[in-house]
Amino acid sequence: MSTHDQDARGHEGDGRSHAQGFSTRAIHAGQEPDPLTGAVVTPIHLASTYAQQAVGEHRGFDYSRTRNPTRVSLETTIAALEGANHGFGFSSGMAAVDAVLRLLHPGDHLIIPNDAYGGTYRLVASVYAGAGVSFSPVELRSPEALRAAWRDETRLVWLETPSNPKLHVIDIEAVSRFAREHGGRCIVDNTFATPYLQLPIDLGADAVVHSSTKYLGGHSDVVGGLVVTNDEELAVHLGFVQNSAGAVPSPFDCYLVQRGLKTLEVRLARQCSNARTIADHLVANPAVAEVYYPGLASHPGHDLARRQMRDFGAMVSFTLKGGEAAALKVAAGTSIFTLAESLGAVESLIELPARMTHSSVAGSELEVDPSLIRLSVGLEDIGDLLHDLDGALTLAG
Ligand SMILES: Cc1ncc(COP(=O)(O)O)c(C=O)c1O
Repeated sequence: MSTHDQDARGHEGDGRSHAQGFSTRAIHAGQEPDPLTGAVVTPIHLASTYAQQAVGEHRGFDYSRTRNPTRVSLETTIAALEGANHGFGFSSGMAAVDAVLRLLHPGDHLIIPNDAYGGTYRLVASVYAGAGVSFSPVELRSPEALRAAWRDETRLVWLETPSNPKLHVIDIEAVSRFAREHGGRCIVDNTFATPYLQLPIDLGADAVVHSSTKYLGGHSDVVGGLVVTNDEELAVHLGFVQNSAGAVPSPFDCYLVQRGLKTLEVRLARQCSNARTIADHLVANPAVAEVYYPGLASHPGHDLARRQMRDFGAMVSFTLKGGEAAALKVAAGTSIFTLAESLGAVESLIELPARMTHSSVAGSELEVDPSLIRLSVGLEDIGDLLHDLDGALTLAG
């Protein structure tokens, strides 16, 4: 059984094996009541340093960049949710991406999706390529394209599924197997799906990366990143980079992400339901050219999404027959959907990736259709969301 339904580690202390479900782990893993006071919420430990009983003798904490109790609590929770042994917190999703990419050395080669998040592309194309790491954007839905792009010096293949912003669905199990058989690693950015919908480690991925700014935090009030892995060598690397480069999240930010995680399941279940209704509604609108949502039976990745995800997510992208001019009007014409970057929170957002989140890929192979609109569907009343979109779409004509 997958960790979708149970905690693979379970607990058998009382002789009865019982595996905990997702929300139980989200609310309790790494969050035992505070031993000093009994507080049921993990304290926000602000101390930067810790008293030592003798030189080098301490209770597991010596300096807060290296290890902080609030951060350890969050790292334990995310590892329990992803079915991993090790979790690492970072100050942003990009810091988390960067910590993994620091595995690469001059001469190494990296494969990224041809529909990667713009910031990941920018980091790879500007920072890592400048330091001698070569990369290839690849259509990872095609096993032949992956095979053709792989080189002797390829160390990593980076996956985003569903992808940002076109919502391509990539076969995590197949790509992970291919990477392993060829001596490389597969890293999955699970930001769009979250561990509630998809468990890449179970499917063979070597590590999972998150922008916890998105669904995990869930309230548009924190920027953060997380990485989890079962790969001991990678865990040593991540711990080293976390401490050496020091892009760690503040204790307060860790608290906010952990608080968000407690309601991830209920939020996402409602958001997926709202997104499915909106996708169906957009398909029927004559101003809309194409709708990208893995939950639609017409989506090329629908069957694969059914297999590797619990539900289809809450991101919906679509293009308009009226092109970019119409898209600009629609994006500025909603009132409940807020025109803003980011995604994954309780409030619904609308944006134009080509000019906003993905402007850094302009002119590259990853360039986004200028008429593509991306929705992050929130928790508002579905009737209000449909009414809002219908109103804006009348401007597209
Ligand atoms: C899929 C994905 N990965 C990584 C990031 C980067 O995260 P952050 O903005 O927290 O640095 C984002 C941000 O939008 C994202 O969408």
